[in-house]
Amino acid sequence: MKKTITVRTNSAVYGIFIGPGITGSLNSFFRASGRPDSAFIISSPRVFGLYGREITGELKTSGVNDIATGIFGDGERNKSMPNYECLLGKIIDFESGKQKQTTIIALGGGVVGDMAGFVASTYRRGVPCIQIPTTLLAAVDSSVGGKTGIDIKRNGSIIKNIAGTFYQPSAVFINTGFLGTLPESQVLNGLSEVIKYGVIRDHGLFDFIGKNRDRILNRESGVLAHIIHRSCSIKKDVVEKDEKETRNVRTILNYGHTVGHAVESASGFRYSHGQSVAIGMVCEAEISAKLGVLSREKCLRIRELIESTGLPVKIKGCSIEKIMGIMKHDKKFREGKNKFALPSDIGKVVVKTDIPERVIKSVLAGAVS
Ligand code: NAD
Ligand code: GLY
Repeated sequence: MKKTITVRTNSAVYGIFIGPGITGSLNSFFRASGRPDSAFIISSPRVFGLYGREITGELKTSGVNDIATGIFGDGERNKSMPNYECLLGKIIDFESGKQKQTTIIALGGGVVGDMAGFVASTYRRGVPCIQIPTTLLAAVDSSVGGKTGIDIKRNGSIIKNIAGTFYQPSAVFINTGFLGTLPESQVLNGLSEVIKYGVIRDHGLFDFIGKNRDRILNRESGVLAHIIHRSCSIKKDVVEKDEKETRNVRTILNYGHTVGHAVESASGFRYSHGQSVAIGMVCEAEISAKLGVLSREKCLRIRELIESTGLPVKIKGCSIEKIMGIMKHDKKFREGKNKFALPSDIGKVVVKTDIPERVIKSVLAGAVS
C-alpha cells in the first residue's frame, strides 16, 4: 500500500511518500537523512486540532524535542503578508539564543503549504521544509514541485501568489488516512486537479476516475493512494523537465487554469480553486474543439466526466467582460499574446499561443448562465 516517488530537479532531490499512516515513517526518514535540532510546525486551527498531536508525537519519537507551532487562520484570505510576517516573528523568537537548525513542517492544505514553503524559502535565505499535505488538492498538486507564495492586497483586490518562490521541499509525506476527515466538497476540489492529470497525460487515470467516482468520494484509502500516486508521478515528470516553467513544459499543468483563475477571481472566490479549474477545463476543451485540435467526441467525454463527479461546468453570476479583463492580466497572456494548454486527445496536450479573442469569447458566452 505504501508508495514512494523520488523527484530529481536541478535544485533538489526528495521523496514523496504516500500511504495510510505514512507519517509514522518520519522517524526512519530522519534517521536516514539527519535529524533536525528543532521543528516549527505551520498549520491551521482545524488541521492542527485534528492531527497536530499525532505529528508532534512522531517528531518527539524521532528525537526532535524542541518543537514550536505557528497556527494561522483558514482560507485564502489568510495567505497574506501580515500572517507571513507574524510567522517569521514567531520563528525568530523560537530560535532566539539557540544555535539550532530549524526545519519547517507544513501541516495542512494548499494555503498552509504555500505559506510554509514561502516562509521556509525566505527565512535565513532558506531552511528545510517538510510538506505534510492534508487535502487532496495539496497532495496531488501544491505540496509537490516547489511553487510557494502568498497573496497581496492591492486597491481592494487580492492578487494571488504574486509574491512567491520556487523552493523544493525536503520531503513530502502524504498520509491518505488524514484525507478521511475531508468534507466531500474538498475531495471534489482536489479531484478536479486529478482529472486534469488524466486529460493531459494519462488516459488510464481518466477512465479510472469515471469508474471509481463513488469510491474516491467515499475516501477509500487504496483508491486515493492510487490517484495520488499517478498524479504525483506526472507532476514529478513535468517538474523534472522544467522546474521553473521556462521551457513550455510545466505550462501543460495550467490546462484549465487560464480560464479557471479568471473565473475564480471574477467570482470573488465564490468558486473554489477546484470548481474554477473544472469550469476552465470544460471551456478550454471547447476552445480546442473549436480550433479543430480536439475531436467533438473527446471534448464531450471530458465535459461528461467532470459533470458526473458533481463539479460545475457552467459559470453563474460573472460577466464575460469581467472574466476576459482578468484573463488579460494573467502571466499566460504576456505581451498581449495569450497562451493555453489545450487537450488534443484524452492523455495528450499541446501548448498554443495567440488564440483569437472571438473564439475565447464565444466559448465563454456558451458557458455563462
Ligand atoms: P485549503 O488549504 O484552504 O484547505 C481547505 C479547507 O480544508 C480548510 O478549511 C482546511 O482547514 C480544511 N482541511 C484541510 N485538511 C483537512 C482534513 N484532513 N480534514 C478536514 N479538513 C481539512 O485549500 P486547498 O484546496 O488545499 O489549497 C488551496 C491553495 O493551494 C490555494 O491558495 C492555491 O493557490 C494553492 N495551490 C498551490 C499550488 C502550488 O503549486 N503551490 C497548486 C495548486 C493550488
Ligand atoms: N500547479 C501548477 C504548477 O505547479 O506548476
